[in-house]
Amino acid sequence: MSDTKKPLRRSQAWFGRQDRDGFIYRSWMKNRGIPHDQFDGRPVIGICNTYSELTPCNSHFRQLAEQVKIGVWEAGGFPLEFPVMSLGETMLRPTAMLFRNLASMDVEESIRGNPIDGVVLLMGCDKTTPSLMMGAASCDLPTIGISGGPMLNGKYRGGELGSGTGVWQMSEEVRAGRMAQEEFFEAESCMHRSHGHCMTMGTASTMASMVEALGMSLPGNAAIPAVDARRNVLARESGRRIVKMVEEDLVMSKILTRKAFENAIRVNAAIGGSTNAVIHLLAIAGRIDVPLALEDWDRLGHELPCLLDLQPSGKHLMEDFYYAGGLPALIRELEGLIHQDALTVNGKTLWDNCRNAPKWNSEVIRTVEEPFKAHAGIAVLRGNLCPDGAVIKPSAATPALLKHTGRAVVFENSEHMHQRLDDESLDVDENCVLVLKNCGPKGYPGMAEAGNMPLPPKVLRKGITDMVRISDARMSGTAYGTVVLHVAPEAAAGGTLALVRDGDIVELDVEARRLHLHVSDEELAQRRAAWQPPKPPMEGGWQRLYFERVQQANLGADLDFLVGKRGAGIPKDNH
Ligand code: FES
Ligand code: MG
Repeated sequence: MSDTKKPLRRSQAWFGRQDRDGFIYRSWMKNRGIPHDQFDGRPVIGICNTYSELTPCNSHFRQLAEQVKIGVWEAGGFPLEFPVMSLGETMLRPTAMLFRNLASMDVEESIRGNPIDGVVLLMGCDKTTPSLMMGAASCDLPTIGISGGPMLNGKYRGGELGSGTGVWQMSEEVRAGRMAQEEFFEAESCMHRSHGHCMTMGTASTMASMVEALGMSLPGNAAIPAVDARRNVLARESGRRIVKMVEEDLVMSKILTRKAFENAIRVNAAIGGSTNAVIHLLAIAGRIDVPLALEDWDRLGHELPCLLDLQPSGKHLMEDFYYAGGLPALIRELEGLIHQDALTVNGKTLWDNCRNAPKWNSEVIRTVEEPFKAHAGIAVLRGNLCPDGAVIKPSAATPALLKHTGRAVVFENSEHMHQRLDDESLDVDENCVLVLKNCGPKGYPGMAEAGNMPLPPKVLRKGITDMVRISDARMSGTAYGTVVLHVAPEAAAGGTLALVRDGDIVELDVEARRLHLHVSDEELAQRRAAWQPPKPPMEGGWQRLYFERVQQANLGADLDFLVGKRGAGIPKDNH
């Protein structure tokens, strides 16, 4: 930049200028009727909005952004809303995850390239949370997160119907011939009946809880329903608070410390959170230069109980969680298990925010002494089938299957799986292990949520509801089952998974953290010599770049060159 003296605020490198460039920076902004005094050096707050009609979970974000703006004005700041790539989980093919890192680049460059002093992140649907957190972390400005909030509980024929979870259950009922197609259609409008994101403890609710546990949002953010007036109050208060955070220079790296991530891992166990949080938190930590490893999930989380009785592991939904006291009430139960001194965006510690939080329903939020499930968290497996790790969520699995040896039934990719699964002549029974290849970061591409593959109809007809399933895929946070995920290296990167054949014996022993393929090293070496690496999914464009540079799941599946904090140094003038 041409100015020699350091500007008071970042935004003043644009708006504080008296020269030709200052004219350009201010004059075009004034076309909306902004008075001259708004450029006087007050904190400029960028509101990073993932509103999109193609992201139904975030479809109320214009209204939410207006509430944030009121708060920013009230505190003497100058709000400027901007759109970023919005990842709609239910629409985007082949999977929204393929674009998480792309959206994070949009966020990072939009923040750094613009006259922004502080950032508000509006996040909701699954990938919109990690993509914004990652991009913002690489810039490290004062930043506050606001989640869109969960939808009201789904209601169907007098009962509760949870996002995602109900689909997995009902579609198996239809396949087994126990539910009529008309009932299935009727359930569509019963499941999602208000603004907001999935109201099960799926990935969106998990990541909203992670944002709050990390200290990146005001207390209570995770569970307030999207359409509850108190969500608007939180947005407005967050708008007020971000202005103060700029004044205090409370940048993201002061909050996202190693302690904050350890707290988040523990809270993930206590809420029965999604396995997707493993990949997303590893990626966010990588962006803010906090060392975090796959094993940290097992070490910090696996002894913890799950306190929360929510679908998919339990029966309640996010609306019930909020009325029961929400995340602050749950964190209060973890008194001796969290780092109490971790700083949060309101300037207080996590413990200050939660120590007096009231709990209104002890059936929904249990205690450490009398938990909902004794062993929660994520188990990290190792073995010749996953030398760089794989994960399983024991609380969502069938206890009897956590130690199981069986014959592999192998699907080369998801098309092969769909083709073969309903074939009555498929040689499979409930003791087999279903193995799915080529659904990892490079293989799908994008690491699809294909890990909870459906069971073969002939097994379903026996009334069996779970089998051991193994893949390099992810699994929807709303899904459940004895499902081994995130096998690394993935098949498309030449992992042992690529070499598994029908009839091989696979041994899973979660207690011993072991996943072993009973095939000799010599035989595996022979099979490996015949293995052909796949071609990129496209010759050019984003998918080519992604394929070449994406890291494996155990490293957070970020692109290698995106890892790290690059700050928000002020770029050169544009004229
Ligand atoms: Fe958007 Fe579940 S599909 S949160
Ligand atoms: Mg999902």
